Amino acid sequence: MNRKINLTRRAWLLRIVQGFSVIGLSLLAYPFIRALFPGAPEAGYLEVDLADLQPGEYTKVLWLGRSVMVLRRYPKGKALASKSVSATHHLVALKDPDSSLSVQPSYAQNSYRSRRPDIFVFYSNCTHLGCEVAVSSELAQTEIICPCHQSRFDDAGRVLQDAVASYNLEIPFYRQMSKNRIRLQSHSS
Ligand code: FES
Repeated sequence: MNRKINLTRRAWLLRIVQGFSVIGLSLLAYPFIRALFPGAPEAGYLEVDLADLQPGEYTKVLWLGRSVMVLRRYPKGKALASKSVSATHHLVALKDPDSSLSVQPSYAQNSYRSRRPDIFVFYSNCTHLGCEVAVSSELAQTEIICPCHQSRFDDAGRVLQDAVASYNLEIPFYRQMSKNRIRLQSHSS
C-alpha cells in the first residue's frame, strides 16, 4: 500500500518537474520563435503582403486593436486630385478635399492620402460613430460606404459632402517596404 502511494507521489512530482521544464524551454525558445516570425503586432509593427491584390480589391488586418484596410486602387490619374468625385453618376463635393481637418501622417496629406497613388491604407472605422466601413468596387470605381448612416468616402477616404460624418477616414503610420509589402507601425518614420 505504502509502496503504491510512493509511486503515485513520485509520478506527480515527475509531472510537475516536466511541466516546469516545458515552461522553461518555451521561455528560452520565445526570442528565437519571434525572430522566425517577424512582423507580429507585439514587435511594434505588422507587415502586410499585397501581392495578391488586384485593382479594386482590399485586405483587412487587425492592428493595435483596430481594423486597417489596404486597398489597391484603380489607376485613374488626375481624378484623385479633384475636389469633387463622381458618385453614382454625378459629381459630389468633398467636405475636406485637402484633408486639412483630418487625421493622417504628413506623408499622406496629399490628394491620394497615401505614400503611393495605387495603394490606400486606412483605419476602417467611420469618423462619425465608428462603425466598420465597407469597400465597394464596381466598373473600375471604388467607393467606401458606412452601413450605419450611409456616409460615403472616395477611394482616398475623403468624405463626401452629403455624409453625416465630418472627417476623412484616419490613416495609420506605415512604411512601404517593397513593391508589394507595407509595414504598419505605431510611430512615424
Ligand atoms: S457611423 Fe458611419 S455614418 Fe454614422
